[in-house]
Amino acid sequence: MTVKIAIVGFGFMGQTHAGTLLQLPDTEITGVIDLKSPAEQLNSIRGNNDTVTLSPEAAEKLPWYRSWEEFVDKAGAPDAAIVALPTKFHCSAVVKALESNCHVMVEKPFATTIPEAEKMIAAAREHNKLLAVGYVVRCMAEYLHLAEALQSGRLGKTHFLEMRRFAGIPGWGSWLDPETVRHSGGTLFDLLSHDLDFVTHTLGEPESITPCRRGRKEFKGDWLSLELKYPDFDVLIESAFIPPVSYPFHRSFQAFFEGGSIYSGQWNKSFECRGKEIKEVRLEEISPYFAEVANFIKSVKLGKIEGICSGEEALVTTRHCDRIRHQLGED
Ligand SMILES: NC(=O)c1ccc[n+]([C@@H]2O[C@H](COP(=O)([O-])OP(=O)(O)OC[C@H]3O[C@@H](n4cnc5c(N)ncnc54)[C@H](O)[C@@H]3O)[C@@H](O)[C@H]2O)c1
Repeated sequence: MTVKIAIVGFGFMGQTHAGTLLQLPDTEITGVIDLKSPAEQLNSIRGNNDTVTLSPEAAEKLPWYRSWEEFVDKAGAPDAAIVALPTKFHCSAVVKALESNCHVMVEKPFATTIPEAEKMIAAAREHNKLLAVGYVVRCMAEYLHLAEALQSGRLGKTHFLEMRRFAGIPGWGSWLDPETVRHSGGTLFDLLSHDLDFVTHTLGEPESITPCRRGRKEFKGDWLSLELKYPDFDVLIESAFIPPVSYPFHRSFQAFFEGGSIYSGQWNKSFECRGKEIKEVRLEEISPYFAEVANFIKSVKLGKIEGICSGEEALVTTRHCDRIRHQLGED
């Protein structure tokens, strides 16, 4: 079965996913929907990670449409769609694609309000289609290794877990529009929710979540800490968008167990320390963005979600973020 698929939004993430789709067998991109042409967008948008593998020649050949309606009218509805638009457009674009009977993968954050998240889930149920969300950390080899250690107990009891994610304020594509930034959900939804999703997916619901904003007025960063309490240990998650644009993206985690610790500060690298020994863990060398989209296509073929976050799971994270926003008095 060849899966016909459309990419809605051809910025940093849309281009990243197009590169994967072109490498997958039995997958055909039948439309790219964006206000500007794929060639122009490939030339002008540079994200904060080196994840785009698409060549200018390949971008030139992609069938381009300015709207979903024009695309469906001219090319017919595909089997699936990847929605990589600014977050404020996720709900309307996802619902449109589901109403055209397409399976959908939408970028994270799923939504910044609960009614929007619930509307997308209801549309997927009504049309009996899959709805997946791009919480790509779930496909990162070093985080999969951490999840295995946390769940298996092979290093003994968990004592403490700390996760960090920092980035310069995005300075490409739609992010140059203040309205896009205003509706992005800031650090909480756009950055920290990656780790929050990972932690609650791996460890289940915490007993409590206590948020704390960091930095005084003079510090223009959007820095947020969360303390998650589990019965026997705590988890600290810290994230910030920090000016200027050039501030480099970096993320790390460290986990402390009764019998050792695990540390990762780089893509695809993880170290286990036990007693006097530190050992680099052998990880599968596969791009998590590739793995994520490959899992989505596999899910479409199987007719059930596997290896990727579902809409229902992303709703849990949306609810957590919404509650945290209330706790911080930032409704
Ligand atoms: N998973 C990750 O690691 C990750 C990383 C970055 C961004 N994201 C998420 O991906 C989404 C997109 O972010 P991005 O950085 O790719 O943004 P971007 O600005 O690079 O791309 C957005 C694209 O959407 C197009 N667009 C905007 N309005 C449109 C409309 N009405 N109709 C058609 N096209 C339209 C723009 O022209 C642009 O090409 C956001 O939700 C963001 O939070 C996820």
